[in-house]
Amino acid sequence: MAYDAVAPGSSQQSDPFTPPSDSVLWRKDFLLGAATASYQIEGAVSEDGRLPSIWDTFSATPGKVLAGDTGAVACDHYHRWEGDLDLLSRLNFEAYRMSVAWPRVMDEAGRPNRKGLDFYKRLLGKLKEKGLQTFVTLYHWDLPQHLEDRGGWLNRETAYRFADYADLMSRELSGHVDAWMTLNEPWCSAFLGYGNGHHAPGLANLRYATQAMHHLLLAHGLGTQALRANDPSSMKGIVANVGRGTGETSSAADQRAAHLFEVQHNAWILDPLLKGEYPSDLWELWPGAEPLVLEGDLQTIAAPLDFLGINYYFRTNVKSDGAHGFIESPLPDVERTQMGWEVSPDGLRDLLTGFHGTYANLPPIYITENGMASDDKVHNGAVEDPQRITFLKRHLAAVDQAVKQGVDIRGYFVWSLLDNFEWAYGYERRFGVVHVDYGTQQRTVKRSGELIAKFIEARKTKR
Ligand code: FCB
Repeated sequence: MAYDAVAPGSSQQSDPFTPPSDSVLWRKDFLLGAATASYQIEGAVSEDGRLPSIWDTFSATPGKVLAGDTGAVACDHYHRWEGDLDLLSRLNFEAYRMSVAWPRVMDEAGRPNRKGLDFYKRLLGKLKEKGLQTFVTLYHWDLPQHLEDRGGWLNRETAYRFADYADLMSRELSGHVDAWMTLNEPWCSAFLGYGNGHHAPGLANLRYATQAMHHLLLAHGLGTQALRANDPSSMKGIVANVGRGTGETSSAADQRAAHLFEVQHNAWILDPLLKGEYPSDLWELWPGAEPLVLEGDLQTIAAPLDFLGINYYFRTNVKSDGAHGFIESPLPDVERTQMGWEVSPDGLRDLLTGFHGTYANLPPIYITENGMASDDKVHNGAVEDPQRITFLKRHLAAVDQAVKQGVDIRGYFVWSLLDNFEWAYGYERRFGVVHVDYGTQQRTVKRSGELIAKFIEARKTKR
């Protein structure tokens, strides 16, 4: 198969990735980047004063992570960061989304840890030197364990500690960051962390999940105030993972089930952020699980955003549970990834156009994560990942369609630059456009990475 990128307008029959010439993807101001997160790649968990995080504790607990994997070494990025940033340049990416490990940069008393801060200063300085735009997430799930010991996100105080952290980071890193994201996927932190226990800290109580969500969103609001005060010229946003829900049949009950699926996955987060209220349907799904909300909290949470980060992976088909909820009803004979997730680019387009219709004040959007896992292997120094190539191409086409239907989307970050520690699934699930051999730490650019690089190169030289 020929993998050469082609110039816009020429025949693209043999090229499995390059977008058609009328795609928004050819616009030079549409940002193309790659994303990672601290715990998933850094390793070096007890170096230079880093404190334990909830993911160190959780992954060391037998039975929590597949094969007993932990982030102790991961991609050893803490030591190999320069080589990894060279990979970003080699792949022609224009932007990098990364996260800061909170337990690396602050001690238990809230004082700065210079060695941890210097790591991120060097890294961000190098990214700027290379001409990449920097998108920095403050909280990609690695809560300091000492805060969890005081109740974690169930304790309102954690939101204020997060604001202190945002304050420190924006004072220290102001000028190094183009776009700040307070939180990555509060749905996962709240629901998987406190609602069903699949993620750290591993608690399972719905009432906990809604209270944790409220404190996470409050942390976002308070943190954003600090970021605005210290670093006025950067963009401030938050990242939400969103899910498309469709009903098994066109019956009113199944359609209602699909609606409730999307309320639980999307509106639970987006309504407080963009409307200043929780969706009332949520309490139909989860009667009695309303969080304690203090006067003024929702105003803090709903302060204007400069952008919204959207992470999208799959669609879920559901049916009514016969009462007030939904149950999953997986479709047979659909394409799935190594995660078992259904491949559905239309789901992404439909969600984006739906949000555009629902939220009058929807800020500009960046797709801050999209990608897929496959069981990739190195053969003769190369990694062929045809499913990923088609997946990315189709999801980028869905983004293009949404833009053409009026949604303001400014960029797209592939998840992920590197194969990495995939949370409860450990190292088995490979999401990278670069393969990592965890025995030798050897990096091998996958075919998908080569094609992205060729496309960005072709775009740069396009007149
Ligand atoms: C998202 C996470 C990211 C990665 C992808 C596959 O939920 O934000 O860290 O694990 O899923």
